Amino acid sequence: MHTSTTFLAFVHLASLTAAFPSYMRRQTNNSPICPNLPTLGDNSTANNTRHADSRPEEFRIMSEEMFPFIPPGPNDLRSPCPAVNTLANHGMLPRDGRNVDLNLFTNASWLGFNMGYDTMALIALPGMRSSTTGNCNPPTVHLSDLKQRVPKLVEHEASLSRRDAFFGGAIGTLDQEQWSRTLARWEGHDIITLDVAAKELKARFDWSRENNANFTADEEEFSRLPSLLQYGLLITTFGNMETGDGNKTLIKYFIENERMPWSLGWQPTQELYFPNNQLVAGNISAIWDSLVEAEETC
Ligand SMILES: *[C@@H]1O[C@H](CO)[C@@H](O)[C@H](O)[C@H]1NC(C)=O
Ligand SMILES: *[C@@H]1O[C@H](CO)[C@@H](O)[C@H](O)[C@H]1NC(C)=O
Ligand SMILES: *[C@@H]1O[C@H](CO)[C@@H](O)[C@H](O)[C@H]1NC(C)=O
Ligand SMILES: *[C@@H]1O[C@H](CO)[C@@H](O)[C@H](O)[C@H]1NC(C)=O
Ligand SMILES: *[C@@H]1O[C@H](CO)[C@@H](O)[C@H](O)[C@H]1NC(C)=O
Ligand SMILES: *[C@@H]1O[C@H](CO)[C@@H](O)[C@H](O)[C@H]1NC(C)=O
Repeated sequence: MHTSTTFLAFVHLASLTAAFPSYMRRQTNNSPICPNLPTLGDNSTANNTRHADSRPEEFRIMSEEMFPFIPPGPNDLRSPCPAVNTLANHGMLPRDGRNVDLNLFTNASWLGFNMGYDTMALIALPGMRSSTTGNCNPPTVHLSDLKQRVPKLVEHEASLSRRDAFFGGAIGTLDQEQWSRTLARWEGHDIITLDVAAKELKARFDWSRENNANFTADEEEFSRLPSLLQYGLLITTFGNMETGDGNKTLIKYFIENERMPWSLGWQPTQELYFPNNQLVAGNISAIWDSLVEAEETC
């Protein structure tokens, strides 16, 4: 069973990344520090061995007692990504947010979210190219490095909960105004289905196209893959791994607190290893395209 699902996931990953040339174009060796960083699809340095059925007994039920939530202090560095920040807020990544290597990312995202290497790598590998740590052996990154916008690697416009860089202010922190627009588009839906996700994404991109003079075709093309993956992650992690039906209560708690919703009864899934969120992201993408098409024919 593992063989076929892993194969399916790999095929899907290959087609998903091939469908997003603008994102992949950034996968060049442009790190000023480490000349030989691995690229997507190169798993020579990867620790691909961790999956749900190898989760040690002591991590089957996760809790605040094991990994207490402590908000970041003034000297702790954080990223634009709520998932990465949450891992650091619980000490699964270093709480100071400094010098995180691929093994730490792999272990923490698997431990916290049951995320496989392939999925984590879609963000962490490009992210490594923004490193300012000066450390190459192994390569590391400070979480705040992931805010880099030039050259463009992972940080993007049209986020669910962050304001576009075009409008200035702090990059990559929860923006109440933007988050309110997302919540308004989710109004009436306790479950974020693929349809709800696709409609919201389309509206979000339409909004940036109308209001953000820097939301060029290139920026839009680049932002698409990370935006889709984030939706895929959110609704599978906090919902149903098969259907992608995300639980809004859990998602809202997670985004607003950057804290694991363990107190609401949530636990990382134990059943699935393969990066199902990529399949879900692909499906949201297809619905989004059909919405745009329907609009164009009206
Ligand atoms: C990843 O590593 C496995 C062996 O560990 C190998 O069979 C597979 O082909 C590798 N995949 C890629 C994309 O390099
Ligand atoms: C992968 O993780 C195992 C522990 O789970 C460790 O022993 C091994 O050294 C790691 N491999 C690499 C390539 O980092
Ligand atoms: C993963 O993280 C847990 C919790 O911090 C730690 O106990 C474990 O040793 C780590 N495993 C690896 C292979 O790094
Ligand atoms: C808008 O885009 C221009 C050209 O790429 C860039 O120089 C400028 O910094 C951007 N402005 C903001 C606020 O992002
Ligand atoms: C997602 O798409 C795949 C094929 O691309 C399909 O097999 C699967 O049923 C779809 N899942 C959902 C929830 O639509
Ligand atoms: C979402 O999760 C919360 C907390 O576990 C639960 O109380 C609620 O019933 C769930 N909502 C739906 C619509 O299933």
